Amino acid sequence: MALDNEKLKFSEKYWQLAIKEFNSFSPERILKASFIQPLPEQFAFQEIDEMMRFCAERHIRLHGHALIWHREVPRWMQHKHRQPKEISDIMCRHIDTIVKHCKGKIASWDVVNEAFNDDGSFRETIWFNKTGQGYIEKAFQTAQTADPAALLFYNDYGLEVPGPKLNAVLVHLRKLRAEGIRIDGIGLQMHISLNSPREEELKEACRQISDAGFRLHFSELDVRLNTAQTNIKKKAELLITQSERYRFVFQLFQSLPPDQQFGITLWGLSDNDSWLSESSYKARPLLFDNQYLPKPAYCALMNMNAVRN
Ligand code: XIL
Repeated sequence: MALDNEKLKFSEKYWQLAIKEFNSFSPERILKASFIQPLPEQFAFQEIDEMMRFCAERHIRLHGHALIWHREVPRWMQHKHRQPKEISDIMCRHIDTIVKHCKGKIASWDVVNEAFNDDGSFRETIWFNKTGQGYIEKAFQTAQTADPAALLFYNDYGLEVPGPKLNAVLVHLRKLRAEGIRIDGIGLQMHISLNSPREEELKEACRQISDAGFRLHFSELDVRLNTAQTNIKKKAELLITQSERYRFVFQLFQSLPPDQQFGITLWGLSDNDSWLSESSYKARPLLFDNQYLPKPAYCALMNMNAVRN
């Protein structure tokens, strides 16, 4: 699951449940550029050091999210007057410093996050606009050099359905692989709802990624309820539908070739922890309710004896 560093420190109820129910964490915020390198050459490693220590003591996997993203980029990094080589050097220094610092404690990384648009074109980010599409391979090369043992992922949303975005990602990553760039897996964020994507779409998308030889990480799974239901009976029905949706996702993941099953990461612990709640959205997308009590979705997975991350 996505681990909140503040709740980890100040809510025993939160972290006791997290370590009881999950065997892999992704830092929700503290590895993002604006947090970890807020000023040039000033790296804020204290929070990730505490989280790495917490996970190491309990033999819990910690997945590195995310090295290069277009959001949460500190202002100093994205100065529009910077020359392409400067931007490239900043990006490589950022990746190299962080991956080396976490070497041996974080063994897998979302190297690049959300680099494509829904139509399959490259997203216009500071990285792309200044240095072209080559920043993607540069980022993976830099991470591989910094920690040759780490598994390296491309992470994005909208890859849960066949279409121009998934096609573009697979074409580009296969091209980079053919050129000798190591890309071990693809993270499908899996921010889904009760009825989108359709089951056959998700199955086909996973088939295409699996057939291309990538590990699959359902990297930010949440299943949002479509409306703020006030009707108690309707709410209960939605929670049952949500449990069936979660069961489908886990069964689909477990149908993948075992060596391509990297993991399933829930994007938060309780509904209150969800990033979707930040927009005052009655999404109620996770396995535990606001009192950290298990919801029908949790029970459905337990009945499956599902393996969770
Ligand atoms: C979100 C976090 O959950 C929020 O707490 C934060 O304010 C913004 O970022 N896709 C991603 C994640 O790759 O990093 C985002 O996480 C959610 C969307």
